[in-house]
Amino acid sequence: MNPDEPKRTVHQNRPEPVAGRSSVPMWLIVVFGLLFYWSQLFLAENAGGFSKDVYHPYTSYDDVAFANPQDPEAKRRAEGRRVFMTTCYACHLESGLGKEGTAPPLVGSDWVLAPGANRIAHIVLYGLTGPINVKGQEWNLTMLPWRETYSDEQIAAVLTYIRSQWGNKAGPVDPQVVKAARAEARPNYESSEELLKLPVQ
Ligand code: HEC
Repeated sequence: MNPDEPKRTVHQNRPEPVAGRSSVPMWLIVVFGLLFYWSQLFLAENAGGFSKDVYHPYTSYDDVAFANPQDPEAKRRAEGRRVFMTTCYACHLESGLGKEGTAPPLVGSDWVLAPGANRIAHIVLYGLTGPINVKGQEWNLTMLPWRETYSDEQIAAVLTYIRSQWGNKAGPVDPQVVKAARAEARPNYESSEELLKLPVQ
């Protein structure tokens, strides 16, 4: 090889490289598609319905509410409202005002606002039939018993709710009161006359 001859490299024989185009490979599109799909599933599961109040590691507002200590009475009222809006509101209405021919009012009722909840615990556990005076008005209908449906805690909760809602101002109800009333194992359907013989407690 002549040492004066300029060095030629293999590269010099090749054309200048130019930027070209080629289509994105199919497998890459599929991978991105799957990644997007997975991310949507992840968000659906973990983004708490995109509520600003829900954050990791909680996945729903209920989880957050449950994990954050509330005072026990607020918790009991919340559970009471749940029971009320599942069952009682159908007749006594969400407003607690009741309806002619359907159910008497819970708002301002002396039965509800009694110093103790013993009698209304009996009403919810065993049902009620026959004449009853509520706020000076006579009613003569029938309410079903709920003792098979709800626990002592749930009944105490709903009674606490109706005693403290709509401007009603009576104290919370201890599940022990409901437990004691349940233990009496009375027959279905109380009458207001029999209830008036029970201690108010
Ligand atoms: C199917 C309709 C119906 C449902 C559901 C119902 N009630 Fe009643 N409730 C009545 C009727 C009717 C009376 C009056 C019965 C009578 O005339 O003897 C009554 C009476 C009462 C009374 C006593 C009277 C008063 O107005 O203060 C209370 C307290 C009461 N219900 C609470 C509840 C609670 C709490 C629930 C839910 C667990 C509930 N009720 C569910 C129909 C219903």
